[in-house]
Amino acid sequence: MDKPKVVLGVSGGIAAYKACELLRRLTESGHDVRVVPTASALNFVGAATWSALSGHPVSTEVWSDVHEVPHVRIGQHADLVVVAPATADMLAKAAHGLADDLLTNTLLTARCPVVFAPAMHTEMWEHPATQENVATLRRRGAVVIEPAVGRLTGADTGKGRLPDPDQIFELCRRVLARGGAARPDLAGRHVVVSAGGTREPLDPVRYLGNRSSGKQGYALARTAAARGARVTLIEANTGLPDPAGVDVVHVGTAVQLREAVLKAAADADAVVMAAAVADFRPAAYAAGKIKKKDGQEPAPVALVRNPDILAEISAERARPDQVVVGFAAETDDVLANGREKLRRKGCDLLVVNEVGERKTFGAEENEAVVLAADGAETPVPYGPKETLADTVWDLVAPRLAAPADGDSDKTG
Ligand SMILES: Cc1cc2nc3c(=O)[nH]c(=O)nc-3n(C[C@H](O)[C@H](O)[C@H](O)COP(=O)(O)O)c2cc1C
Repeated sequence: MDKPKVVLGVSGGIAAYKACELLRRLTESGHDVRVVPTASALNFVGAATWSALSGHPVSTEVWSDVHEVPHVRIGQHADLVVVAPATADMLAKAAHGLADDLLTNTLLTARCPVVFAPAMHTEMWEHPATQENVATLRRRGAVVIEPAVGRLTGADTGKGRLPDPDQIFELCRRVLARGGAARPDLAGRHVVVSAGGTREPLDPVRYLGNRSSGKQGYALARTAAARGARVTLIEANTGLPDPAGVDVVHVGTAVQLREAVLKAAADADAVVMAAAVADFRPAAYAAGKIKKKDGQEPAPVALVRNPDILAEISAERARPDQVVVGFAAETDDVLANGREKLRRKGCDLLVVNEVGERKTFGAEENEAVVLAADGAETPVPYGPKETLADTVWDLVAPRLAAPADGDSDKTG
């Protein structure tokens, strides 16, 4: 079988050196990679490096090997184009359809999925011009992953850092695995995913918590990003590294999680509540550590109810067409309890899984049945949490309202 053909576009940012690692990961895993740098990118990493690592000639403009018509052929034959790093300038050119070098020509001729991994200073990223260009590219079907937060060029830190090359590689692998659709099915959508387990403090050192690892929620966030969605991941106490291309909000308690979910859900197409939210919290918080006293029994801990976030967002949807998905971990009467919970919460889909030794909390695998409000049931056999995540998005995607802008048949 032919190797999948990947075009690695590199534009002129300081993170260009990290694209060498991405190139290595792609070639070592059996991809045929053609590197197309911009002229500015060669100020950071030279053509010899790209050519030697990829095994292909390297050119920045359309005037080399003209008999092979590279400005058209490279894009036409690609299975995936990934631009990493994508400068503010490159995003602007791509959004406006400019074609003044080989990379921008390739972006116009590609009919395969296109992934942009932007990297720039926070001010450049946050500038309305850049944000509008990103929104345009996403609306047309490109996967534009969110930059990471961290050290930037020089001593600055903030949002704008190129995500770890390993994570960009994983995302590319997922995009390729989903086949050649130029427009991923969640392109242009904003989805919110909650993950992890809330901790309800009792005193400065103790809390009421649960055993949720957050792995299912992270799988949902990663798969949604690979399917083109802008993803906000609201994370509670997982300790997991932020996934590439996803906006992550860190919270601790149920009350904080509610606030973050409601804020992010305001413009979301779908909300998936995979986090295990504590039903109760201690009624009182002791400002100092509760001490044990000789000869005295401990005082009982009074509990109060936490807000029911799933029921609240299902009942008061920020948009009438918003799709809401809940999770239920049950130990007995799994399906009967799941159906009852779906009705009580008022969500569109409920992923019901049985808590067991090898599945659910902390495991890499899961097994579930997805119940729909219209009565449909989709069993998902024991397997990786990513498979369940993809099934959830497969069920969410057809329930989303048609995009308002009519751009749905265009490509990135
Ligand atoms: C040292 C240095 C670092 C730069 N880093 C970035 C960057 O990380 N992101 C960015 O958007 N622009 C960065 N720039 C600016 C771009 O190189 C400049 O906008 C250039 O025109 C981009 O060209 P290209 O998009 O064709 O590659 C940097 C410039 C210099 C001199």
